[in-house]
Amino acid sequence: MITFDFKKYQYKKLEDYDLSEIKERFLKDKHMSGWYDLDKSCVDSIESTASYIRNNCDVFLVIGIGGSYMGAKAVIDALSPYYGTKKPEVLFAGYQLSSDYMADLIDYLQDKEVMVNVISKSGTTLEPAIAFDMILDFMENKYGEEECAKRVFVTTDANSGELLPLANQKGFQRFVVPDNIGGRFSVLTPVGLLPIAVAGFSIEELFKGATEAKENLEDCYYYTKLRHELYNMNKTIESFDIYEPKLASFSEWLKQLFGESQGKDGKGIFPVSTINTRDLHSLGQYYQDGIDMLFSTTLFVHSDEEVYLEKYKKTLDTVNKIAMESVAQAHFEGHVPTSIITLDTISEENLGYLIFFFEMSAMLGSYLLKINYYDQPGVNGYKNILHKRIKEDG
Ligand code: PA5
Repeated sequence: MITFDFKKYQYKKLEDYDLSEIKERFLKDKHMSGWYDLDKSCVDSIESTASYIRNNCDVFLVIGIGGSYMGAKAVIDALSPYYGTKKPEVLFAGYQLSSDYMADLIDYLQDKEVMVNVISKSGTTLEPAIAFDMILDFMENKYGEEECAKRVFVTTDANSGELLPLANQKGFQRFVVPDNIGGRFSVLTPVGLLPIAVAGFSIEELFKGATEAKENLEDCYYYTKLRHELYNMNKTIESFDIYEPKLASFSEWLKQLFGESQGKDGKGIFPVSTINTRDLHSLGQYYQDGIDMLFSTTLFVHSDEEVYLEKYKKTLDTVNKIAMESVAQAHFEGHVPTSIITLDTISEENLGYLIFFFEMSAMLGSYLLKINYYDQPGVNGYKNILHKRIKEDG
Protein backbone atom coordinates (compact mmCIF):
# COMPACT_ATOMS: atom_id res chain seq x y z
CA MET A 1 0.00 0.00 0.00
CA ILE A 2 1.14 3.53 -0.77
CA THR A 3 -0.05 6.72 0.90
CA PHE A 4 0.45 10.28 -0.26
CA ASP A 5 0.73 13.36 1.92
CA PHE A 6 0.53 16.49 -0.20
CA LYS A 7 -0.80 18.61 2.62
CA LYS A 8 1.11 18.81 5.87
CA TYR A 9 4.28 20.49 4.59
CA GLN A 10 2.82 22.49 1.67
CA TYR A 11 1.87 26.17 1.32
CA LYS A 12 -1.50 25.69 -0.32
CA LYS A 13 -4.44 23.40 0.33
CA LEU A 14 -5.10 20.76 -2.30
CA GLU A 15 -8.69 21.91 -2.68
CA ASP A 16 -7.32 25.17 -4.08
CA TYR A 17 -5.90 23.47 -7.14
CA ASP A 18 -7.83 23.27 -10.38
CA LEU A 19 -7.08 19.91 -11.99
CA SER A 20 -9.46 20.23 -14.93
CA GLU A 21 -6.81 21.25 -17.49
CA ILE A 22 -4.69 18.13 -16.89
CA LYS A 23 -7.69 15.84 -16.85
CA GLU A 24 -9.15 17.20 -20.07
CA ARG A 25 -5.85 17.08 -21.95
CA PHE A 26 -5.21 13.56 -20.74
CA LEU A 27 -8.60 12.29 -21.88
CA LYS A 28 -7.82 13.60 -25.37
CA ASP A 29 -4.30 12.15 -25.47
CA LYS A 30 -4.14 8.94 -23.53
CA HIS A 31 -4.13 6.48 -26.39
CA MET A 32 -1.07 8.07 -27.96
CA SER A 33 1.40 6.45 -25.58
CA GLY A 34 2.20 2.75 -25.77
CA TRP A 35 3.45 2.51 -22.17
CA TYR A 36 0.01 3.56 -20.88
CA ASP A 37 -1.54 0.33 -22.22
CA LEU A 38 0.50 -1.89 -19.86
CA ASP A 39 0.71 -4.61 -22.49
CA LYS A 40 1.43 -7.96 -20.79
CA SER A 41 1.65 -10.07 -23.94
CA CYS A 42 5.41 -10.62 -23.53
CA VAL A 43 5.19 -11.95 -19.95
CA ASP A 44 5.10 -15.70 -20.73
CA SER A 45 8.07 -15.64 -23.09
CA ILE A 46 10.03 -13.40 -20.69
CA GLU A 47 9.37 -15.77 -17.81
CA SER A 48 10.38 -18.90 -19.69
CA THR A 49 13.56 -17.27 -21.04
CA ALA A 50 14.35 -15.89 -17.57
CA SER A 51 14.03 -19.33 -16.06
CA TYR A 52 16.38 -20.79 -18.70
CA ILE A 53 18.89 -18.00 -18.00
CA ARG A 54 18.64 -18.43 -14.22
CA ASN A 55 19.46 -22.12 -14.54
CA ASN A 56 22.41 -21.70 -16.86
CA CYS A 57 24.63 -18.86 -15.65
CA ASP A 58 26.36 -17.30 -12.68
CA VAL A 59 26.30 -13.79 -14.12
CA PHE A 60 23.67 -12.12 -16.26
CA LEU A 61 25.22 -9.04 -17.84
CA VAL A 62 22.86 -6.30 -18.99
CA ILE A 63 24.36 -3.85 -21.49
CA GLY A 64 22.50 -0.57 -22.02
CA ILE A 65 22.35 3.11 -21.10
CA GLY A 66 19.65 5.59 -20.00
CA GLY A 67 16.19 4.12 -20.35
CA SER A 68 17.70 0.87 -21.56
CA TYR A 69 19.02 -0.06 -18.10
CA MET A 70 17.98 2.40 -15.37
CA GLY A 71 14.48 1.03 -14.78
CA ALA A 72 15.67 -2.56 -14.38
CA LYS A 73 18.47 -1.47 -12.04
CA ALA A 74 16.04 0.63 -10.00
CA VAL A 75 13.74 -2.33 -9.37
CA ILE A 76 16.48 -4.93 -8.83
CA ASP A 77 18.44 -2.77 -6.37
CA ALA A 78 15.28 -1.86 -4.46
CA LEU A 79 14.30 -5.51 -3.98
CA SER A 80 17.71 -7.08 -3.38
CA PRO A 81 19.32 -7.60 0.02
CA TYR A 82 22.28 -5.38 0.90
CA TYR A 83 24.77 -8.23 1.27
CA GLY A 84 25.43 -11.51 -0.42
CA THR A 85 25.00 -12.30 -4.08
CA LYS A 86 22.12 -14.20 -5.46
CA LYS A 87 22.63 -16.51 -8.43
CA PRO A 88 22.65 -15.32 -11.09
CA GLU A 89 24.24 -12.03 -10.22
CA VAL A 90 22.83 -9.28 -12.45
CA LEU A 91 25.53 -6.83 -13.54
CA PHE A 92 25.33 -3.78 -15.79
CA ALA A 93 27.68 -2.36 -18.43
CA GLY A 94 27.59 0.05 -21.34
CA TYR A 95 26.39 3.04 -19.30
CA GLN A 96 29.77 4.82 -19.21
CA LEU A 97 33.11 4.67 -21.04
CA SER A 98 35.41 3.61 -18.21
CA SER A 99 38.37 1.47 -19.35
CA ASP A 100 38.94 0.32 -15.77
CA TYR A 101 35.35 -0.84 -15.49
CA MET A 102 35.52 -2.92 -18.66
CA ALA A 103 38.91 -4.40 -17.81
CA ASP A 104 37.79 -5.32 -14.27
CA LEU A 105 34.50 -6.71 -15.58
CA ILE A 106 36.14 -8.98 -18.15
CA ASP A 107 38.57 -10.13 -15.51
CA TYR A 108 35.70 -10.91 -13.15
CA LEU A 109 33.79 -12.85 -15.82
CA GLN A 110 36.71 -15.16 -16.76
CA ASP A 111 35.76 -18.07 -14.52
CA LYS A 112 31.99 -17.46 -14.44
CA GLU A 113 29.18 -18.88 -16.57
CA VAL A 114 27.90 -15.78 -18.35
CA MET A 115 24.80 -14.75 -20.27
CA VAL A 116 24.33 -11.34 -21.83
CA ASN A 117 21.38 -9.08 -22.65
CA VAL A 118 22.27 -6.12 -24.87
CA ILE A 119 19.50 -3.53 -24.87
CA SER A 120 19.38 -0.64 -27.31
CA LYS A 121 16.27 0.55 -29.08
CA SER A 122 18.24 2.41 -31.74
CA GLY A 123 21.20 0.07 -31.76
CA THR A 124 23.41 3.08 -32.49
CA THR A 125 24.22 4.34 -29.00
CA LEU A 126 27.99 4.50 -28.59
CA GLU A 127 28.45 3.43 -24.96
CA PRO A 128 26.53 0.12 -25.15
CA ALA A 129 27.86 -0.51 -28.68
CA ILE A 130 31.47 -0.37 -27.42
CA ALA A 131 30.71 -2.51 -24.37
CA PHE A 132 28.84 -5.07 -26.46
CA ASP A 133 31.66 -5.33 -29.03
CA MET A 134 34.08 -6.10 -26.21
CA ILE A 135 31.78 -8.55 -24.46
CA LEU A 136 30.85 -10.34 -27.69
CA ASP A 137 34.55 -10.91 -28.40
CA PHE A 138 34.95 -12.23 -24.89
CA MET A 139 31.92 -14.52 -25.20
CA GLU A 140 32.92 -15.94 -28.59
CA ASN A 141 36.43 -16.64 -27.35
CA LYS A 142 35.13 -18.24 -24.19
CA TYR A 143 32.30 -20.32 -25.66
CA GLY A 144 32.72 -20.42 -29.45
CA GLU A 145 30.08 -19.02 -31.82
CA GLU A 146 27.54 -21.82 -31.51
CA GLU A 147 27.33 -21.82 -27.70
CA CYS A 148 27.56 -18.02 -27.64
CA ALA A 149 24.37 -17.84 -29.72
CA LYS A 150 22.53 -19.53 -26.82
CA ARG A 151 23.93 -17.05 -24.33
CA VAL A 152 23.28 -13.66 -25.89
CA PHE A 153 19.86 -11.98 -25.90
CA VAL A 154 19.15 -8.84 -27.86
CA THR A 155 16.43 -6.33 -26.97
CA THR A 156 15.95 -3.82 -29.77
CA ASP A 157 13.48 -2.23 -32.19
CA ALA A 158 11.28 -4.64 -34.17
CA ASN A 159 12.33 -3.48 -37.61
CA SER A 160 15.28 -1.13 -37.53
CA GLY A 161 18.58 -0.37 -35.86
CA GLU A 162 22.05 -1.83 -36.11
CA LEU A 163 21.55 -4.65 -33.61
CA LEU A 164 18.85 -6.30 -35.66
CA PRO A 165 20.97 -7.63 -38.58
CA LEU A 166 23.67 -8.76 -36.16
CA ALA A 167 21.12 -10.64 -34.03
CA ASN A 168 19.71 -12.31 -37.14
CA GLN A 169 23.13 -13.21 -38.51
CA LYS A 170 24.37 -14.68 -35.21
CA GLY A 171 21.07 -16.32 -34.25
CA PHE A 172 20.62 -14.49 -30.93
CA GLN A 173 17.17 -14.63 -29.32
CA ARG A 174 15.44 -11.28 -29.72
CA PHE A 175 13.01 -9.22 -27.65
CA VAL A 176 11.26 -6.19 -29.03
CA VAL A 177 11.21 -2.64 -27.66
CA PRO A 178 7.77 -1.54 -28.87
CA ASP A 179 7.98 1.21 -31.42
CA ASN A 180 5.66 3.54 -29.51
CA ILE A 181 7.48 3.25 -26.16
CA GLY A 182 10.53 5.42 -25.47
CA GLY A 183 13.51 4.30 -23.37
CA ARG A 184 12.65 5.91 -20.05
CA PHE A 185 9.06 4.63 -20.28
CA SER A 186 10.11 1.06 -21.09
CA VAL A 187 10.58 -0.54 -17.64
CA LEU A 188 7.40 -2.60 -18.05
CA THR A 189 8.44 -3.94 -21.47
CA PRO A 190 11.10 -6.57 -22.27
CA VAL A 191 13.72 -3.83 -21.66
CA GLY A 192 13.13 -3.90 -17.90
CA LEU A 193 11.19 -7.12 -17.49
CA LEU A 194 13.80 -9.63 -18.65
CA PRO A 195 16.56 -8.48 -16.25
CA ILE A 196 14.03 -8.13 -13.41
CA ALA A 197 12.66 -11.64 -14.01
CA VAL A 198 16.18 -13.08 -14.23
CA ALA A 199 16.94 -11.46 -10.87
CA GLY A 200 14.05 -13.53 -9.49
CA PHE A 201 11.38 -10.86 -9.01
CA SER A 202 7.73 -11.07 -9.98
CA ILE A 203 6.86 -9.17 -13.11
CA GLU A 204 3.18 -10.10 -12.61
CA GLU A 205 3.24 -8.19 -9.31
CA LEU A 206 4.88 -5.20 -11.00
CA PHE A 207 2.01 -5.11 -13.49
CA LYS A 208 -0.49 -5.52 -10.65
CA GLY A 209 0.86 -2.39 -8.95
CA ALA A 210 1.03 -0.43 -12.20
CA THR A 211 -2.59 -1.34 -12.96
CA GLU A 212 -3.67 -0.11 -9.51
CA ALA A 213 -1.92 3.19 -10.20
CA LYS A 214 -3.64 3.44 -13.57
CA GLU A 215 -7.02 2.95 -11.92
CA ASN A 216 -6.38 5.55 -9.20
CA LEU A 217 -5.07 8.67 -10.90
CA GLU A 218 -6.29 11.32 -8.48
CA ASP A 219 -3.06 11.44 -6.43
CA CYS A 220 -1.07 11.63 -9.63
CA TYR A 221 -3.12 14.61 -10.83
CA TYR A 222 -2.48 16.39 -7.52
CA TYR A 223 1.23 15.66 -7.50
CA THR A 224 1.58 16.88 -11.08
CA LYS A 225 -0.33 20.07 -10.44
CA LEU A 226 1.47 20.69 -7.15
CA ARG A 227 4.97 20.45 -8.65
CA HIS A 228 3.89 22.71 -11.51
CA GLU A 229 2.53 25.31 -9.07
CA LEU A 230 5.77 25.17 -7.09
CA TYR A 231 7.72 25.61 -10.34
CA ASN A 232 5.64 28.74 -11.05
CA MET A 233 6.72 30.00 -7.62
CA ASN A 234 10.37 29.68 -8.77
CA LYS A 235 10.91 26.38 -6.99
CA THR A 236 12.93 25.12 -9.92
CA ILE A 237 14.65 22.16 -8.23
CA GLU A 238 12.84 19.02 -7.09
CA SER A 239 14.74 16.83 -4.69
CA PHE A 240 13.78 13.18 -4.49
CA ASP A 241 14.71 12.35 -0.91
CA ILE A 242 14.90 8.77 0.31
CA TYR A 243 15.44 7.24 3.73
CA GLU A 244 16.09 3.71 2.44
CA PRO A 245 19.34 3.56 0.43
CA LYS A 246 18.02 0.58 -1.55
CA LEU A 247 15.94 3.16 -3.43
CA ALA A 248 19.04 5.04 -4.65
CA SER A 249 18.80 3.60 -8.17
CA PHE A 250 15.08 4.33 -8.16
CA SER A 251 15.85 8.02 -7.58
CA GLU A 252 18.40 7.86 -10.42
CA TRP A 253 15.59 6.56 -12.67
CA LEU A 254 13.32 9.39 -11.45
CA LYS A 255 15.98 11.97 -12.33
CA GLN A 256 16.27 10.48 -15.80
CA LEU A 257 12.50 10.25 -16.29
CA PHE A 258 11.82 13.86 -15.35
CA GLY A 259 15.08 15.40 -16.57
CA GLU A 260 14.97 13.88 -20.04
CA SER A 261 11.19 14.23 -20.43
CA GLN A 262 10.68 17.77 -19.19
CA GLY A 263 13.97 19.68 -19.38
CA LYS A 264 13.53 21.35 -22.76
CA ASP A 265 12.58 24.56 -24.55
CA GLY A 266 14.21 26.52 -21.72
CA LYS A 267 11.76 25.01 -19.21
CA GLY A 268 11.50 22.25 -16.63
CA ILE A 269 12.20 21.46 -13.00
CA PHE A 270 15.77 20.26 -12.37
CA PRO A 271 15.62 16.88 -10.57
CA VAL A 272 18.17 16.02 -7.88
CA SER A 273 18.23 13.41 -5.12
CA THR A 274 19.51 12.74 -1.65
CA ILE A 275 20.04 9.61 0.41
CA ASN A 276 19.05 10.36 3.97
CA THR A 277 19.89 10.54 6.70
CA ARG A 278 23.42 10.54 5.19
CA ASP A 279 22.97 13.74 3.17
CA LEU A 280 21.51 15.69 6.07
CA HIS A 281 25.10 15.91 7.23
CA SER A 282 26.20 17.51 3.96
CA LEU A 283 23.56 18.94 1.61
CA GLY A 284 21.06 19.29 4.44
CA GLN A 285 22.68 22.60 5.34
CA TYR A 286 21.90 23.96 1.87
CA TYR A 287 18.32 22.69 1.92
CA GLN A 288 17.68 24.43 5.23
CA ASP A 289 19.55 27.64 4.61
CA GLY A 290 20.67 28.05 1.00
CA ILE A 291 19.01 29.72 -2.00
CA ASP A 292 15.24 29.37 -1.91
CA MET A 293 14.63 27.24 -5.04
CA LEU A 294 14.00 23.72 -3.73
CA PHE A 295 11.06 21.49 -3.00
CA SER A 296 11.18 17.90 -1.82
CA THR A 297 9.39 14.76 -2.89
CA THR A 298 10.24 12.36 -0.10
CA LEU A 299 9.92 8.62 -0.59
CA PHE A 300 9.65 6.82 2.73
CA VAL A 301 9.47 3.07 2.94
CA HIS A 302 8.67 1.07 6.07
CA SER A 303 10.95 -1.83 6.90
CA ASP A 304 9.74 -5.39 7.40
CA GLU A 305 12.57 -5.91 9.88
CA GLU A 306 11.72 -5.56 13.59
CA VAL A 307 14.85 -3.91 15.00
CA TYR A 308 13.99 -2.80 18.54
CA LEU A 309 16.14 -0.18 20.25
CA GLU A 310 15.84 -0.76 23.98
CA LYS A 311 17.48 2.56 24.83
CA TYR A 312 14.86 4.60 22.90
CA LYS A 313 11.93 2.21 23.43
CA LYS A 314 11.27 2.37 19.70
CA THR A 315 12.01 0.36 16.58
CA LEU A 316 14.72 1.58 14.21
CA ASP A 317 12.00 1.97 11.57
CA THR A 318 10.10 4.34 13.89
CA VAL A 319 13.27 6.37 14.52
CA ASN A 320 13.85 6.59 10.75
CA LYS A 321 10.27 7.83 10.27
CA ILE A 322 10.60 10.39 13.05
CA ALA A 323 13.85 11.59 11.40
CA MET A 324 12.06 11.95 8.04
CA GLU A 325 9.19 13.91 9.61
CA SER A 326 11.58 16.12 11.57
CA VAL A 327 13.46 16.94 8.37
CA ALA A 328 10.22 17.71 6.53
CA GLN A 329 9.16 20.06 9.32
CA ALA A 330 12.54 21.78 9.63
CA HIS A 331 13.01 22.16 5.88
CA PHE A 332 9.44 23.45 5.50
CA GLU A 333 10.28 26.13 8.07
CA GLY A 334 13.36 26.79 5.90
CA HIS A 335 11.12 27.27 2.80
CA VAL A 336 11.38 23.76 1.35
CA PRO A 337 7.85 22.40 0.90
CA THR A 338 7.68 18.62 1.05
CA SER A 339 5.39 15.91 -0.28
CA ILE A 340 5.66 12.54 1.42
CA ILE A 341 5.01 9.27 -0.38
CA THR A 342 4.99 6.32 2.04
CA LEU A 343 5.31 2.66 1.04
CA ASP A 344 4.25 0.07 3.62
CA THR A 345 7.03 -2.16 2.28
CA ILE A 346 9.37 -2.47 -0.72
CA SER A 347 7.59 -4.89 -3.00
CA GLU A 348 7.18 -5.46 -6.73
CA GLU A 349 3.57 -4.30 -6.41
CA ASN A 350 4.49 -1.00 -4.75
CA LEU A 351 7.34 -0.38 -7.20
CA GLY A 352 5.04 -1.10 -10.15
CA TYR A 353 2.62 1.44 -8.71
CA LEU A 354 5.31 4.09 -8.38
CA ILE A 355 6.68 3.44 -11.88
CA PHE A 356 3.30 4.06 -13.45
CA PHE A 357 2.53 6.97 -11.11
CA PHE A 358 5.73 8.85 -12.02
CA GLU A 359 5.53 8.02 -15.75
CA MET A 360 2.00 9.45 -15.76
CA SER A 361 3.15 12.54 -13.95
CA ALA A 362 6.04 13.08 -16.39
CA MET A 363 3.48 12.98 -19.19
CA LEU A 364 0.78 15.06 -17.48
CA GLY A 365 3.30 17.68 -16.36
CA SER A 366 4.40 18.15 -19.95
CA TYR A 367 0.88 19.35 -20.82
CA LEU A 368 1.23 22.10 -18.23
CA LEU A 369 4.73 23.02 -19.47
CA LYS A 370 3.56 22.81 -23.09
CA ILE A 371 6.47 20.65 -24.14
CA ASN A 372 6.83 17.28 -25.89
CA TYR A 373 7.72 14.83 -23.09
CA TYR A 374 8.60 12.06 -25.50
CA ASP A 375 11.63 13.42 -27.35
CA GLN A 376 15.15 14.31 -26.13
CA PRO A 377 16.65 16.63 -28.75
CA GLY A 378 19.16 18.01 -26.22
CA VAL A 379 20.82 14.60 -25.87
CA ASN A 380 21.86 14.77 -29.51
CA GLY A 381 23.99 17.85 -28.80
CA TYR A 382 26.85 15.89 -27.28
CA LYS A 383 26.26 12.85 -29.48
CA ASN A 384 26.73 14.81 -32.71
CA ILE A 385 30.03 16.32 -31.57
CA LEU A 386 31.28 13.02 -30.13
CA HIS A 387 30.52 10.97 -33.25
CA LYS A 388 32.15 13.58 -35.48
CA ARG A 389 35.27 13.81 -33.30
CA ILE A 390 35.68 10.08 -32.99
CA LYS A 391 35.80 9.81 -36.77
CA GLU A 392 38.11 12.84 -37.23
CA ASP A 393 40.60 11.99 -34.50
CA GLY A 394 40.50 8.29 -35.37
O1 PA5 B 1 14.92 7.53 -22.44
C1 PA5 B 1 15.51 7.50 -23.51
O2 PA5 B 1 14.92 7.52 -24.61
C2 PA5 B 1 17.01 7.44 -23.54
O3 PA5 B 1 17.54 7.55 -22.25
C3 PA5 B 1 17.47 6.14 -24.19
O4 PA5 B 1 16.95 5.05 -23.45
C4 PA5 B 1 19.01 6.05 -24.22
O5 PA5 B 1 19.54 7.14 -24.91
C5 PA5 B 1 19.46 4.75 -24.88
O6 PA5 B 1 18.96 4.66 -26.19
P1 PA5 B 1 19.02 3.30 -26.99
O7 PA5 B 1 18.13 2.32 -26.31
O8 PA5 B 1 18.55 3.65 -28.37
O9 PA5 B 1 20.46 2.84 -26.98
